[in-house]
Amino acid sequence: TNDRILVRAIEPKDEEAWNKLWVEYQGFQKVVMPLEVGKTSFARFLDPTVKLWGALAFDTETGNAIGFTHYLSHLTSWNVEEVVYMNDLYVTEYARVKGVGRKLVEFVYKHADELGTPSVYWVTDHFNHRAQLLYTKVAYKTDKVVYKRIGY
Ligand code: ACO
Ligand code: ACO
Repeated sequence: TNDRILVRAIEPKDEEAWNKLWVEYQGFQKVVMPLEVGKTSFARFLDPTVKLWGALAFDTETGNAIGFTHYLSHLTSWNVEEVVYMNDLYVTEYARVKGVGRKLVEFVYKHADELGTPSVYWVTDHFNHRAQLLYTKVAYKTDKVVYKRIGY
């Protein structure tokens, strides 16, 4: 089934397929985002002047979009070059544990290499064990704890 999976950068024609997955992802994250957030993010994925990118995974036999990743690049006081932050990763329920998530992460790694910013990091909920079954195979777990300004 692995060669049935294609991962590529998001294109303008993908908006409807992407949005369907984006809504599913919000359900998983137990949030409802204003429509404007999705519209803005999608436009930014396509804007060559904005360093926020999106990629979709497809089942090449059905043509269905089955997952996405969103990632960005930012400055850091720790490197000369920027680092890449993977903001989101999602695979639709029926397509899970078939290697789609791994292919999406590998796509981010490849793009990060091409950009000359090979360092990639992300955060996940400590209780998201399913995601961590993948993450422990493609990355290492840091000792860091994440804090956020209260109210944001
Ligand atoms: N025991 C041992 N290993 C297991 C088990 C298990 N029970 N189940 C799965 N695995 C392993 C698989 O063998 C596989 O490893 P492999 O590549 O070496 O074979 C790995 O875990 C799963 O990898 P994929 O199949 O590539 O992952 P999948 O396509 O299922 O996607 C994902 C994983 C994205 C976490 C998916 O479950 C999902 O979308 N979940 C809901 C949303 C979510 O949690 N997103 C991540 C939020 S964190 C963030 O966005 C940065
Ligand atoms: N028990 C309970 N509370 C304590 C104790 C103690 N033993 N010791 C200190 N505190 C409290 C203080 O009361 C104070 O709280 P308050 O503002 O309510 O009075 C708080 O802890 C300390 O606050 P500050 O005095 O403002 O902090 P300080 O100037 O000591 O700076 C810092 C803290 C930056 C972590 C300093 O210890 C440091 O530089 N450590 C080494 C480097 C480091 O760890 N940096 C953070 C890395 S993470 C990152 O960079 C994002």
